Amino acid sequence: MSPPSTAVVYDQHGPPDTVTRVTKIPPVEMNENEVCVKMLAAPINPADINRIEGVYSVLPPIPAIGGWEGVGEIHYVGSAVMALSPGDLVIHAAYLSGTWQTYVVEDQSLWYKIDKNTPIEYAATISVNPLSALRMLEDFVALKPGDTIVQNGATSIVGQCVIQLARIRGIHSINIIRDKPESDKIKEKLIKLGANKVFTESELEVKGVKNLLDISLKGYLLQEKNLDEAQYRCSIDHLLALVRAGDISLKGYLLQEKNLDEAQYRCSIDHLLALVRAGDIAI
Ligand SMILES: NC(=O)c1ccc[n+]([C@@H]2O[C@H](COP(=O)([O-])OP(=O)(O)OC[C@H]3O[C@@H](n4cnc5c(N)ncnc54)[C@H](OP(=O)(O)O)[C@@H]3O)[C@@H](O)[C@H]2O)c1
Repeated sequence: MSPPSTAVVYDQHGPPDTVTRVTKIPPVEMNENEVCVKMLAAPINPADINRIEGVYSVLPPIPAIGGWEGVGEIHYVGSAVMALSPGDLVIHAAYLSGTWQTYVVEDQSLWYKIDKNTPIEYAATISVNPLSALRMLEDFVALKPGDTIVQNGATSIVGQCVIQLARIRGIHSINIIRDKPESDKIKEKLIKLGANKVFTESELEVKGVKNLLDISLKGYLLQEKNLDEAQYRCSIDHLLALVRAGDISLKGYLLQEKNLDEAQYRCSIDHLLALVRAGDIAI
């Protein structure tokens, strides 16, 4: 039997502060292939909020336990489990919800063992935003050192990961941020992460974006799905300007729809966590 668990659940969609509640989940009988994981950390990703609100493109059936990513320690293993042992550090396999609980019982195949030297906060947050950034840079076009990518929303966690992963691969990044009183400080921060150029939106409100950026804008422009309406409206002007300026394809991207196979998923996670442990990327 697993220990009793405490979980954050929601029975209907709506504002998180009204529809979520903390509840006790009784111990469950475990089968021989299941493991019980004691969750150590599970973040609140903006997408978790969108799922509770019911506005995300892919929603788990309700009632649901919140949380899409997190890290835990193996607490107990069923008798047929050979590859995992109590004390192992594990993260949820891709595309599973329900990390906002203290103990989780699931089939052994749904957990992935990671290096124990990984900082907990990185282990808990590696599988959504950094993984999206990595896959966006890898899955659409064969980028090589010296190539250039352009992104808006560059201050986001995904954006900051894109900047760092591009830097590591020798890919130039041109980054667009919102106008703010502290824009200069934000630019400095992104440059330190490895951004080659950072422009505010107003700096791009000019004709001849191509000349301004001084690059050949041929290739793909990826626009992450799930921008809210305001973000989308703001971005679209820039995108249209860029499309007009060159021969560019627009493509949507959703990590969950990408359906990485298990080997790809594990390989990507290992790669990212190795970069974290080496101090090459910071989130
Ligand atoms: N497609 C996928 O599979 C996938 C996976 C992961 C994430 N995402 C998406 O990637 C995006 C970034 O995620 P995140 O968790 O990294 O986000 P985050 O850290 O919360 O950052 C949000 C970003 O949106 C910008 N923003 C907010 N309101 C805006 C507005 N009205 N106009 C222009 N920009 C605005 C923010 O700019 P300021 O810094 O100026 O506030 C910031 O850059 C989200 O849209 C998320 O849904 C998609």
